[in-house]
Amino acid sequence: MKSVKIHIVLLLLCVLLVSCSSSEKKYRIGVSQCSDDIWRDKQNSELQIGAYFHENVELRFAVAFDSDERQIQQIDSLVSTGIDLLIVAPNQVSTISPAIDRAYDKGIPVIVFERKTNTKKYTAYMGADNYEMGHLMGEYVATRLNERGRIIEVMGLKGSSPAIERHNGFREAIAQHPGIQVVATLQGDWTEPTAYNTVKQWLDKNMGEKIDLVFGMNDRTAMGARKAFEEAGVALPLFCGIDGLPGENGGIRLVMDSLLDASYIYPTHGDQLLQLAVDILEGNPYEKETKLMSVLVTQENARVLLMESEEIMRQSHNLEQLHEKASQYLDQLGNQRTLIFVALAAIFLLLALLAGIYMYYLQRARIQDERMQMEREQLDFYTQVSHELRTPLTLIQGPLDQLLRTNDFRTASDNARELFTIVRRNTQHLTGLINKMLDAQTGGTVTDVNAHVETQHLAPAESAENVKPDEDAPTVLIVDDNADIRIYLRSILQRQYRLLEAEDGKRGLELAREQVPDLIVSDVMMPVMNGLEFCQQVKKDDISCHIPVILLTARALEKHQIEGYESGADAYITKPFSPELLLVRISNLLQSRHQLKDLWGMKPAAEPVEAPATIAAPAPTPIEDAFISRFKKIVEERLADSNLSVEDLAADMGLSRVQLYRKVKALTGSTPVDLLRKARLAQAQKLLQESTLSVSEIAYKVGFASPSYFTKCYKDEFGTVPGEARKS
Ligand code: FRU
Repeated sequence: MKSVKIHIVLLLLCVLLVSCSSSEKKYRIGVSQCSDDIWRDKQNSELQIGAYFHENVELRFAVAFDSDERQIQQIDSLVSTGIDLLIVAPNQVSTISPAIDRAYDKGIPVIVFERKTNTKKYTAYMGADNYEMGHLMGEYVATRLNERGRIIEVMGLKGSSPAIERHNGFREAIAQHPGIQVVATLQGDWTEPTAYNTVKQWLDKNMGEKIDLVFGMNDRTAMGARKAFEEAGVALPLFCGIDGLPGENGGIRLVMDSLLDASYIYPTHGDQLLQLAVDILEGNPYEKETKLMSVLVTQENARVLLMESEEIMRQSHNLEQLHEKASQYLDQLGNQRTLIFVALAAIFLLLALLAGIYMYYLQRARIQDERMQMEREQLDFYTQVSHELRTPLTLIQGPLDQLLRTNDFRTASDNARELFTIVRRNTQHLTGLINKMLDAQTGGTVTDVNAHVETQHLAPAESAENVKPDEDAPTVLIVDDNADIRIYLRSILQRQYRLLEAEDGKRGLELAREQVPDLIVSDVMMPVMNGLEFCQQVKKDDISCHIPVILLTARALEKHQIEGYESGADAYITKPFSPELLLVRISNLLQSRHQLKDLWGMKPAAEPVEAPATIAAPAPTPIEDAFISRFKKIVEERLADSNLSVEDLAADMGLSRVQLYRKVKALTGSTPVDLLRKARLAQAQKLLQESTLSVSEIAYKVGFASPSYFTKCYKDEFGTVPGEARKS
C-alpha cells in the first residue's frame, strides 16, 4: 500500500511539472509607451505579432498618456514585476532618464525606440532619423511652393526628441531657400486639439495674413491646424504632416483625399523591434543603433502606398486571426493533454488497485494452501499412527476372541478367564481411546462400523482348526502387507473358504486376474499399490470387475470410508474388526451376487441359491453385460461343433480356461460346459418345434456326438423325450 501511495505522489508531481512547464514564458518584456494614439496602436500590434513567433515571450504593456510622471512610475513598476527586458519610448528627452537608469542598473537590458533620452544607459536604440525627416520635409516645402511662400511650423511636444530634431532639420533646409519665409513657429504637443487651439489663437491675432503652407510635425497636428483655418473662413493653405499611417484616418488617405498635401511615413516596425529584444535576451549579435528608413507621401505615390500598406494590414489581420485559432487549438491540446494525464493516472491507480487486490488474494490463497497442507500432514500423521496402533490391536483382540471361544478357554481356571476378560476389556478400551484421539485431532468422525459387533456378548465357538473347506467352496483373495494380519485372516476364513494371499495391490491384481476369486478382502495402506487403487483396477478389468471387494483398514475417518466406496469397494470394515462381522459381510456379498441363471430362456434344472430378503441383488454392470453377451454369441456360433471344448471357448474369449470357468460360474452359477450343453438343448428344442428335421439330424446339428446321448440329456433337462416336443 505504501508503494502505491508513493507512485501516486510521483505521478501527480509529473502532471504538475508538465502543466507548469507548458504555460510558463521564459522572457517577460515590458513595453513603456509615452502616448496612446493610432501610431502607437499600430506599433503595439506589430510587437504582439512579433511575439507570436516566439513561444517563450510575454509582453507587458504600459501607456503613460503623454505624462512624464506616469511613465516614470510605470517603468519602476514594470521593473519590480520582474521583467527581463524594457522597451521604452520616452515622453521627453531628460525627464524619463532616471527611471531608465534604474532599470538598466538592475541589469535589465533597455531598448530605447523612436524617441531619445539624454542617458547613455541603454542597450540599443531603434528609430527613424527625425532630423533627416524634417530636412526632407523642408526641401519638399520649398519645391512645392516654387521657392516662394509664407509658412507656419506647428511643433511637437516640447522637450521630446522628434520635435527638436524635426524642427532642426526643417529649419536648416528652409534656410537654404531665401524665398521661403517661416511666419510663425507654434508650440504643439503631438495632439490634434492642441494644434487646433494654438493655430486658432494665431489666426485670431493675425487676421488677413496670407499663409501658403502649414507644416505640422505629425499628421494629427497638421489636421488640427487645417480645422482652425477652415473655421476661420480664410483661404486654405497647403498642409503637410508626418506619420503617413495606413487606414481610414491615416495620413496616406488624407494625402490621397487632398486634405493633406504631403506626409512622411514614420516607421513603426514593431516586429523588428521585438526581434531585436529577443536577440538581446538570447545573447545573439545585434545592432546597438538601428536606423529605420522611410519615404515621403505625396499626391503621386499616395494611392500606391495606401494599397500596399492596406495589403500589409490585411495580412497582419489574417496573421492575428491565424494566431488566435492556433492558440485556441493549443488550449484544446493543453486540455486534452491534461485529460490524458488524468485518465492515465486513473488507469494507473486502477491497475495498482487491481494488482494490490490480486496480491492480497494470492497471499490469502497461499496461506490457506499452507494451512490445508499442514492439516493434511497432521491428518496423515494421525492416520498413520492410528494405523500403526490399530493393526497390533487387531492382532491382539482378534486372536484373543478366538481363544475365548475355544474349549481350552472354557475349561480354564476362573482366574485365567478373568484375566483374559480384563485383557479383552482393555483392548476395547484402547480402541475407544484411539478413536477419540483421532476425533479430537481431526474434527472428523471416526466411524466404528464394527461397534455393534464389538459389544456383542462373546459366544463360545467350536474349535475348528482342522476343518477344511470343500472343493466347491468360494475362493477369497486376501491382500495385506502385514503377514500377521494375513495369518489372522486365514485363521478366520480358512474353515469356509479357499484362500489366496497377496502382500500388495499389484500382486493382488495379478492373482485376481489369473484366479478370478469369488471375493477379495484388502487392506488400504500398502506399499507398491495401495488398496484404493487396487480396488479401482479390479473394478475396471473385464475379468475381475464382478468380484466383490471388502476394504479392511485402520483408516477409520468417515472421509476415508467415502474414498473407499468411491474406489468401488462393496464394503468397508475398520480395524480392529470383529471376525463375525467380516464373515457375515463376506457371506452376504457372495449370496447377493447377481447371477444370470437362464441364459437361453430355459427353466434351469437346479434352483438358484436365494439371496436373503434384505439384500437386493444388484443389476449386472455394463461390463458384465458385455461379457455375457459375448460369451452367448460365441457359444451360439460354435455349438454345432461336437468337438468344441471349454479351452476353445476360453481361447475365443481371450481368456485362460480357469479364468473363463470362474468368471462364467460367478456370473451365471453354471460352468461353461453346462452352459454349452444348455445352449445345444435350447437350440434343439427350437429346431424340434420349428423344423421338419429328424431327432437324429437335430442331435448332430446342435453338436451331440450321438443321438442317444442327446435324448438322455434332453430328458434330464426338460423331463420329456425329444419326440414329445415334436408332437406338441
Ligand atoms: C505618436 C507620435 C507620432 C509622432 C511621434 C513622435 O505618439 O506622436 O504622431 O510622429 O509620436 O514621437
